[in-house]
Amino acid sequence: MDKLRITGGRALEGAVRISGSKNAALPVMAATLLAPGVHRLRNVPRLRDTQTFARVLELLGAKVAFEGNLLTIDTQGVNSVEAPYELVKTMRASIYVLAPLLARFGRARVSLPGGCAWGPRPVNLHLAGLQSMGAALEIEHGYIVGRDVRLKGATVGFDVVSVGATVQLMLAAVLAEGSTVLENAAIEPDVTVLGEVLVACGARIEGLGTRRLEIHGVSALRPIETSIIPDRIEAATFAAAAAMTGGRIRLEGVRPEHFEASLRKLEEAGCVVERGADAVAVAGPARPRPVNVVTQPYPGFPTDMQAQMIAVCAVASGTSVIEDTIYLDRFTHVQELVRMGAHIELKGNVAVVAGVERLSGAQVMATDLRASASLVLAGLAAEGETVVDRIYHLDRGYEALEKKLGALGARIERVK
Ligand code: EPU
Repeated sequence: MDKLRITGGRALEGAVRISGSKNAALPVMAATLLAPGVHRLRNVPRLRDTQTFARVLELLGAKVAFEGNLLTIDTQGVNSVEAPYELVKTMRASIYVLAPLLARFGRARVSLPGGCAWGPRPVNLHLAGLQSMGAALEIEHGYIVGRDVRLKGATVGFDVVSVGATVQLMLAAVLAEGSTVLENAAIEPDVTVLGEVLVACGARIEGLGTRRLEIHGVSALRPIETSIIPDRIEAATFAAAAAMTGGRIRLEGVRPEHFEASLRKLEEAGCVVERGADAVAVAGPARPRPVNVVTQPYPGFPTDMQAQMIAVCAVASGTSVIEDTIYLDRFTHVQELVRMGAHIELKGNVAVVAGVERLSGAQVMATDLRASASLVLAGLAAEGETVVDRIYHLDRGYEALEKKLGALGARIERVK
């Protein structure tokens, strides 16, 4: 298992090009199943998760080829409707193939994702929504099974805002018979952009970017030609690196409006942020100021930046309070940060972080992607050497992280 060895204490300086978004790419990859044909997706990040999704599509019978960041997916030969446990258990987003398979073949057999490293992550809203659209789904031997399904338009109201359930239902509705209304839909850029991509292929969707989507089923879609939007969480993570190390980082190829909530928090913490059309410059303070954070669905502060923000607050000049309202148990980074000298008290889903002047390097490991990112940030700011173990989590969601950080002056190396 690879590790990252980081010698901390250097201010990061320079420019970094932000990669395509993982969470925007995965729904578009699933959408290729809706239209038999050759799809071309540009700016797809080369990550373990996009590779896993490519593997799921291959098992279904698609031909998938990566050339740099261009992903070509030929879905003409898709002839299987089964997404196996071995892949779904490694990446929950594999469940996105469910609706497209039901829409195209009227049947599907998709493993039910299990628990996640930081607690339960149910898919009840996906299943209930599809059931309202006429899909009689059964759970058999750990699999979600649908047979003889004909999807029909329906009104589906979500009691919590869910990115995944909104994506799943959009994928179900675009080819369904009649009209579907999704109420309390997610408005994360990943969702809105998926809608725009589908519209460009012939789908009829009204209300994109709002909490009420109206989708009128069409009989067929054209293949997808698109470029994946930049990764707002990767961008915000590099911005946090500037904040923690007192560095100056220019984020290139970004959509500043997509991570405005994170930028505003970092400004509150003392960063100076300059926003351009497709670039953002972040200059970190000598020491961050404490900030209070409550995670919310978009456009609020994202849960996917909670762990990194705790790392920033760990070296702030006072006490910060950070609450995660989306995932109540997503705090596996806290005990590892404590091993690096952070003063953090966890009370349920609230972390009270009393900033210390310096963290000290240590051997740490994390059990998920953003927690690992938080430990890398802590290592960059810490005194001495930090070794972050189990970095396959980072490889799921950050393209060439150590190369990008190295180019900004970090002393970081991958140890095989
Ligand atoms: N929820 C339910 N029932 C459901 C679905 C969700 O109760 O059927 C709850 C969840 O437990 C959670 C809330 O709804 O409390 C929001 O979850 P959501 O469905 O929005 O999350 P997701 O679609 O499973 C995506 C991202 C996550 C990100 C969340 C929240 C992808 C592939 N994943 O997950 O990204 O944390 O939205 O923004 O888009 C990551 O990139 O590190 C990551 C975990």
